[in-house]
Amino acid sequence: MSKKRFSIDYEEFASVQEMSPEDQQLVALAIEAQKGSYSPYSHFQVGAALRLEDGTIIKGANQENAAYPSGLCAERVVLFYAGANYPDVAADTLAIAGSDKGVLCESPASPCGACRQVMAETQKRHRHPLKTIWVGSKRIRKFYSVDDILPFIFDSLKVE
Ligand code: THU
Repeated sequence: MSKKRFSIDYEEFASVQEMSPEDQQLVALAIEAQKGSYSPYSHFQVGAALRLEDGTIIKGANQENAAYPSGLCAERVVLFYAGANYPDVAADTLAIAGSDKGVLCESPASPCGACRQVMAETQKRHRHPLKTIWVGSKRIRKFYSVDDILPFIFDSLKVE
């Protein structure tokens, strides 16, 4: 037996002004996208803005349902929309913002495991690293690849 250590690098910003102009725009659009949230059950509004490799930006927001599991997170709304409408364009950067009852959360919006799994397959499908930006009012984090936020991913389908 040998012990292994897994570590990742990521960027942390104290304010959005520290980010590149492109990422500042994506953060603003993720916050704006929260307006499309349908969340009468949780009152938690999540907005997502995805920049594709060709510069196209699309937005999504969480959609809830009285039959709770039928709802969908903002990240998967936008990733599946991209897959359906831009199947040949790689997903490049996804910004995510969450608000609790209309107030932007202090801690960065951390995507759920199911969304990370979909991000991982999106990244693999396009052979292009999918960066994620987790927006919070106190700090913002940027990760360079889904490999860093979902290590040792389930990969049995061997999609090449
Ligand atoms: N939600 C997202 O949209 N993204 C996540 O990564 C986590 C949770 C949504 C689902 C539900 O509508 C609400 O937030 C509360 O869980």
